[in-house]
Amino acid sequence: MQTKVMDANSPEAIELAARLFSQGQLVGFPTETVYGLGANALDPQAVLSIFAAKGRPADNPLIVHIWRREQLEGLCEIPQGAEQLMDAFWPGPLTLLFPRTERVPKEVTAGLPTVAIRMPSMPCTRKLLQACDLPIAAPSANRSGRPSPTLASHVLEDMDGRIPLILDGGECQVGLESTVLDLTHGEPTILRPGGITKEMAEEVLGREVALAGSILRPLQEGEVALSPGMRYKHYAPQGNVTLVEGEEAAVVRALRENCLLDRQAGKSSCVLCFTEHMEALADCDPHDIGSIQDQAQVAHRLFDTLRQLDQEGRETIYSEVVPPEGVGLAVMNRLGRAAAFRTMKV
Ligand code: TXA
Ligand code: MG
Repeated sequence: MQTKVMDANSPEAIELAARLFSQGQLVGFPTETVYGLGANALDPQAVLSIFAAKGRPADNPLIVHIWRREQLEGLCEIPQGAEQLMDAFWPGPLTLLFPRTERVPKEVTAGLPTVAIRMPSMPCTRKLLQACDLPIAAPSANRSGRPSPTLASHVLEDMDGRIPLILDGGECQVGLESTVLDLTHGEPTILRPGGITKEMAEEVLGREVALAGSILRPLQEGEVALSPGMRYKHYAPQGNVTLVEGEEAAVVRALRENCLLDRQAGKSSCVLCFTEHMEALADCDPHDIGSIQDQAQVAHRLFDTLRQLDQEGRETIYSEVVPPEGVGLAVMNRLGRAAAFRTMKV
């Protein structure tokens, strides 16, 4: 199959994508978080072909994307607190879990009693969802296990020949996947941190929001994953990533020493560091993850940087960390998994 790439802002591209969706086909499309790989959520065969194209385990459920709230009718019940969160954060990078009706195919929810739904905010995404007026099931548009795509070229890298169309909308603004929040099990709980933070949700709900236990550590043996996606190896480059934590000057020194030692041992090694440390690490092929003052920038760049490491064939990578607060929690959740939580304290 030939994969066409078209400008997401062209009316012809939107029209073609909407037609492909109505025919049960797959389309890669941009959102403000990451690129999605979409299909008509009400068509079980189309949904199954998403799993095939990604190589995704069948027990990992998908997020359904809508452009207007009326689309919720008939798909799900609205749990307490959801209206407030939708008023505050939709359209935007927040996915909520809803008790689902029989109309939602089990292929979408991997048999779970809840369905995850979000309303993206990127204007071209809204146009696309409006043009087809279908609920669109879409995971991130990467092959399973690879970092999520934040550029159309990343989608092409992973999906060339597997899908008929990719809409190119440029860089994704947030760069990390949406926050997944569960209101269906009593205490509101963030299953996956993202651009909408715990603090932001707490302010709107006027009550505490819990964090799923496995956000900053691997799942323990026998532990049930609240969000099935947490079970799988994710975001990991081919090389070994080590996080280096401690006082600023000591971290910079340790990054450099470890990188250069690995080089001496014949390994292709590099560092991921803040803009402010690029100069001090100039002999370590530094990758600029953004300013130490700007967590949103670090989030925005992270997945592209992880993909570059594979392209460069890096065997060992030493990375700085951000404080796990605000958007930093989402960054550390992804970076931690990329490093299999290997951390060096200096
Ligand atoms: O920003 C995003 O959310 C992107 C864009 C494309 O919208 N999508 C995305 O989808 O990241 P995906 O499939 O890569 O991640 C969906 C996550 C997985 O961790 C999955 O296990 C979880 O949401 N999830 C989906 N339905 C769920 C459910 N009913 N209960 C618990 N977790 C669920
Ligand atoms: Mg994904």
